[in-house]
Parts: sequence; structure tokens; C-alpha cells
Amino acid sequence: MADVREAARLLEKAQRVVVFTGAGISAESGVPTFRDALTGLWERFDAQSLATPQAFQDDPDLVWGWYEWRRHRVSSVHPNPGHLAVAAMRNAVVITQNVDDLHERAGSADTVHLHGSLFMPRCAQCGEAAALPSTTGEPDEGRRVWPPSCVRCAGLVRPGVVWFGEALPEAALEAAARAASDCDVLLTVGTSGMVYPAAEIPRLAARSGAAVIQVNPQPTPLDSVALVNLRGSAARVLPDLVATAWPDQAAEDPAAEPS
Ligand code: APR
Repeated sequence: MADVREAARLLEKAQRVVVFTGAGISAESGVPTFRDALTGLWERFDAQSLATPQAFQDDPDLVWGWYEWRRHRVSSVHPNPGHLAVAAMRNAVVITQNVDDLHERAGSADTVHLHGSLFMPRCAQCGEAAALPSTTGEPDEGRRVWPPSCVRCAGLVRPGVVWFGEALPEAALEAAARAASDCDVLLTVGTSGMVYPAAEIPRLAARSGAAVIQVNPQPTPLDSVALVNLRGSAARVLPDLVATAWPDQAAEDPAAEPS
């Protein structure tokens, strides 16, 4: 409790706040984290072996099927109280490693996506943006799906996410680095802090003099970077933090009917 009060005090007096999120913030919406075991056809793979340009080149229908299944799964779940609490921090810059759209659907419209998005496929050959395939329901877990062809060059369409070994989108990385070096408080939520260069963002904020607050039920390498470590789940801790920092301002659910 004392830690939540200390974190709330830091947030409340901060002029510039950055919220940096990872897979853990979406876990309570039902989106598995990257390090959760896969099921179905993907049981014998791990996410890291499917999320590479080589995997797509070797087995495009396996990889596209996996991403289509993930996209449908994300579309069928909802932002949780953690996402809503982040959206309630009105002036915060939200930087996420997640490829879902749950921050946006919670109300954080200008979220910076460091690792791309499940909803922005593009041609693997010429880079042309591609339309999302029209859907006929969720593909079965574990089903291979052949990727669509690019309308411009007939190359294979790939997911618009950053794979292991690929560069991060330059504009997103620049925006994230700028926000991290200029903020007073960086709140890091639900990330293992192990995948670079994204994991450099909270470290950059700390080096630039910001107070780092971490929300994670487990210890991470960012424990030593954080001034305050809040051990708990995002959906439980973040609403508590917002309510303590700004008692007059409850997290709003944009999906709720106006009263
Ligand atoms: N609330 C907060 N944190 C949680 C919760 C929760 N309910 N559940 C799990 N976590 C924490 C875990 O303890 C872990 O530290 O979320 C973190 C998830 O870690 P990862 O699966 O490694 O996810 P992330 O840090 O986002 O991974 C970074 O690596 O796999 C690539 O590109 C992928 O964007 C991803 C990146």
C-alpha cells in the first residue's frame, strides 16, 4: 500500500508521463503472453521460432495461420481495467510492444506501437500495405492458412509485426526514445524487459532522470531500474494507482452506455 501511495505521488506531480507496456497488460483480457506455451498445431513450436522472417519464408501458411488465429483471438476479447486505467491518464504517452489494439480500444488513441500491429499486413516483397482479409469466423487453432497475394506485385502478404532479427519502425522508435528521455515518470507494465531495443526505453528514461515505476507480478531485470516496484497484476494495480493519484477521476469504460 505504501508503495502504491509513493507511486501515485510521483505520478500526480509529474508533468510528463510515459506508460510502457508489454504482453502482461493484455494477459487478463485473455491474450496469452509471448512466453506462454502454445497449443494446437503450434504446440511443438515456441512463439520465438514462429516470429521470424525465416519461418515465414520456410512455411508461410503455418506462420500466416498463426497470426490470423491471433488476430481473431484479439478481436474477440476486450480491454481490461488495466488498459482503461492507462487511458484515464489523459496526457500520458503510451508506448507498447504489443501488436494488439487493446490500448486504442480502451481510449489511448495515439499509442506508439514499437513492434507493429496485427491489423496492418503488408507485402513481404514490395512493402505495399494490404487489406485485412475478410473474415469468415475464427480459423481453427492450429490451422494453416495460405497468405493473400499483394495487389501490386503478387508477392505474399505478411503480418505487419516486427519479427526477431528485424529493425523496429524508425518513427515509432524515435517517438518512444524522445518521450522516454523527456518524461518525469515512466510506468512500465507487464513486460519482461528482456527484448531489445524496446527494453532500452525504461532504462533510457531512468538515465535521463525520470522516476521509473514497475507493475509486474514477477521480478524482472527492470526491478533494479525501478524506483518503485508494484508486485501485482495490471488489471488490479493500475486502477488502484489511478484512483490513488487522481481520486476524482475514475477510469472510464468507453464501451459503457452513457448514464
Ligand atoms: N499483469 C502485469 N504483468 C503480467 C501479467 C499481468 N496480469 N501477467 C504476466 N505479466 C508479466 C510477466 O511476469 C512477464 O514479466 O508480463 C511479462 C510478459 O513478458 P513477455 O511475455 O516476455 O512479454 P514482453 O515483455 O511484452 O515481450 C517483449 O518480445 O516476444 C517478443 O515481440 C515480442 O513484444 C514482445 C517482446
